[in-house]
Amino acid sequence: MSPADRRSASSADQMRGLGAAIGRACSGGEVVVLNGDLGAGKTTLAQGLGRGLGIAEQVTSPTFVIARSHAHPSGGPDLVHVDAYRLGSLGEVEDLDLESDLATSVVVVEWGAGVVDGLSDRWALVTIARSPDPAVETRVVDLAWADVTWAHSPWAAPAAPDAAGGDAP
Ligand SMILES: Nc1ncnc2c1ncn2[C@@H]1O[C@H](COP(=O)(O)OP(=O)(O)OP(=O)(O)O)[C@@H](O)[C@H]1O
Ligand SMILES: [Mg+2]
Repeated sequence: MSPADRRSASSADQMRGLGAAIGRACSGGEVVVLNGDLGAGKTTLAQGLGRGLGIAEQVTSPTFVIARSHAHPSGGPDLVHVDAYRLGSLGEVEDLDLESDLATSVVVVEWGAGVVDGLSDRWALVTIARSPDPAVETRVVDLAWADVTWAHSPWAAPAAPDAAGGDAP
């Protein structure tokens, strides 16, 4: 069984904090799959992940494009943000040619479960669950990972000193 961790996020800011911790733990070559229903907070987590990685520009929903690439401003790994919701077939995934990006990027895939299997041995899976009560904003966020070089959960790692302002989960 792969290692796993769980947190809850009671606001979008907390969700971004969980994503930022994952971003800080990534070094390039990781595939991070985000699962959760419509509006669960996948893009919100991806925004934090981009910030934790050091991406300067705003990460927005890639809904109207299938993949959007965000270059790292100072030589760190780029962020490739994919929305697999409308990807119908494995062929379309292959057309994105994610493998060639992967060496120098972190690839984050919304709705990616089952679609990007086999892309990398280094993966993390984030599953975001909403409460059945629509009035409850708190989400339960599960993280599982394999073959990434994380000695411990990114959520157990101390926040970087420059990450003050709500990044700590
Ligand atoms: N605890 C929370 N975690 C994350 N988002 C929250 C939370 N509470 C409220 N929100 C709000 O819920 C919305 C989540 O939208 P987001 O686009 O991140 O979801 P998504 O899973 O990417 O949706 P889609 O399936 O359409 O891609 C945002 O407006 C965000 O501010
Ligand atoms: Mg989204």
